[in-house]
Amino acid sequence: MSYSYKIKSLEQYHQDYKKSVDDPEGFWGNVADNFYWRKKWDRVLDWNFTEPKIEWFKGGKLNITENCIDRHLATMADKPAIIWEPNNPEERTRVVTYARLHKRVCQFAQVLINNGVKKGDRVCIYMGMVPELAYAVLGCARIGAIHSVIFGGFSAQSIADRLFDAQATFIVTCDGAYRGAKDIPLKSIIDDALIGNKTVKKVIVYTRTRVPVSMIKGRDVWWEDEMDFAETQIEKNGVISFPAEEMDAEDPLFILYTSGSTGKPKGVVHSIGGYMVWTGYTFVNVFQYNQGDVHFCTADIGWITGHSYILYGPLSAGGTSVMFEGIPTWPDAGRFWDIVEKYKVNILYTAPTAIRSLMSFGLEPLKDKDLSSLKVLGTVGEPINEEAWHWYDENIGKKKCPIVDTWWQTETGGTLISNMAGITPAKASWATLPMPGVQPIMVDENGHEVTEKDEHGYLKGNLCIKAPWPGILRTTYGDHERCRLNYFATYPNLYFTGDGALKDENGFYRITGRVDDVLNISGHRIGTAEVENAINMHSGVVESAVVGYPHDIKGQGIYAFVIYNGHHGDENQRRQDICLTVSKIIGSIAKPDKIQFVTGLPKTRSGKIMRRILRKIAEGEIANLGDTSALLDPGVVVEIRDGKI
Ligand code: PRX
Repeated sequence: MSYSYKIKSLEQYHQDYKKSVDDPEGFWGNVADNFYWRKKWDRVLDWNFTEPKIEWFKGGKLNITENCIDRHLATMADKPAIIWEPNNPEERTRVVTYARLHKRVCQFAQVLINNGVKKGDRVCIYMGMVPELAYAVLGCARIGAIHSVIFGGFSAQSIADRLFDAQATFIVTCDGAYRGAKDIPLKSIIDDALIGNKTVKKVIVYTRTRVPVSMIKGRDVWWEDEMDFAETQIEKNGVISFPAEEMDAEDPLFILYTSGSTGKPKGVVHSIGGYMVWTGYTFVNVFQYNQGDVHFCTADIGWITGHSYILYGPLSAGGTSVMFEGIPTWPDAGRFWDIVEKYKVNILYTAPTAIRSLMSFGLEPLKDKDLSSLKVLGTVGEPINEEAWHWYDENIGKKKCPIVDTWWQTETGGTLISNMAGITPAKASWATLPMPGVQPIMVDENGHEVTEKDEHGYLKGNLCIKAPWPGILRTTYGDHERCRLNYFATYPNLYFTGDGALKDENGFYRITGRVDDVLNISGHRIGTAEVENAINMHSGVVESAVVGYPHDIKGQGIYAFVIYNGHHGDENQRRQDICLTVSKIIGSIAKPDKIQFVTGLPKTRSGKIMRRILRKIAEGEIANLGDTSALLDPGVVVEIRDGKI
């Protein structure tokens, strides 16, 4: 497969960028011509950010699985689409060719139909990182059902909330999942999530860990039985076929829940055509993907990175994608490097938190590992500190592999700002230049464009985007007004990212982190309000306030200030009880790293918590807490400061 839209030089980047801004419809129409459409679109782009209404390739008819699978069969049937590395390195690897992927996806699409799933139904997928997860996702896309993958670390309560919000009618899960030394009892968590649920009709259970599970008659069915039966339906005289549903470009492809500044996660909705074009285009250009390259994205498919750069992006480009079930530090901290060596990985795409964690083990785990296949390295999910960037560059890339620092979000579908490997320049800790089609603008708190440079010669402001790119979210599920308020209302006619940024004299961007009440813990987004709500559910808690603080490995840690009124246990036991409460309500990823018990919180006379002060205390900047005169009771600050842990 050749990619006519692939940018091959810095000069071409500048030309393409200009074309994409001067004539977005012409530019993206040409890119979209590289994909398979059953019927071409009526119009490339129609939009306004006030409603917002964003339509790309409207009227175009397609099925994304024909782009990700069927169109590769004539030339690449025997080529690996997914290489699966199990949690336990002793277990056998599975190589899923495009032909095999086609068969399994057709089979699972048939399973969905047999169980009553229809186009437009919401299917929740709660599985470990096994190839069956890919079959489930793509099976949904094949019949036009809307998938909503939930990361295996979320609790029953979180799943229940998401099932309700999406009004999901089907679930695909596993008995359990392996992650390092742990077995996670997924089906049992689903059973808890389903107590009181009124919408879910069927649960399909894939057997992975063989942990005992309860199977409810009429509701729960085994994946293996269903797949065996479906096989007899889709295979005639050795030919496999399951016609893909014809979808409109603007039909929804999936919902993915993500945290914002309110207590309730939002269901970000992506539509088929634009998302496909955006993930395919950015995948090929950012990583400079060549046919046959082995791409290893270490994310979990429960997050947007896995959706876009393990599945849809690489597969639409006819690529080979490594899918890893386990974690970087099990059975030892050399696991990633073993995988790179074993599959001759060419592109490694991971998170700064993983790099920092592996750095902490020193160079011993790298000894005797052959990393010579690597050509491109990538990072995503949070700002990468210079120390980690250089460690990655020197010890993994041996100073020969460009590092792409890709900035993007669940809402953006794919990368918006990043260097392109070997084509545009890299700069440690800077995401650098926008992709074609992406028009960033830095604004101050009042929405005015920032034009004054700071003492370092940088523009500093809140990062917004002026016009839509094909992969932008279309709505938040079931609540379009929420989408408008969250992203398009802060600054009129701009998409607000929630991030702060710097811009240097070359036009390079450095993302400095969230400017709203969203934390980034190990590259995962968690709202402070969500964590506070969970802490406040504990019977002994009167009130709490949560802020982030710098954490060596996680990037940010969670610091909770808690007013407690119970009598049970000592402080440490209370901390553990609170952590367990948070694990039950959200999941263990949201557990506070530090809990400080306080008698009051710094509030203004109107009752608003002054987080700025708490943030400074949590960050250890206690010498200068700024102006506290607006506080109702300034004395409380002294008490909190002196009690800092
Ligand atoms: O703050 C930015 C940070 O992660 C946020 C998006 O989180 P999420 O929707 O979970 O998606 C993560 C994977 C795309 C952003 O608002 N972020 C993401 N990538 C970078 C980053 N911050 C700095 N540099 C990055 N490369």
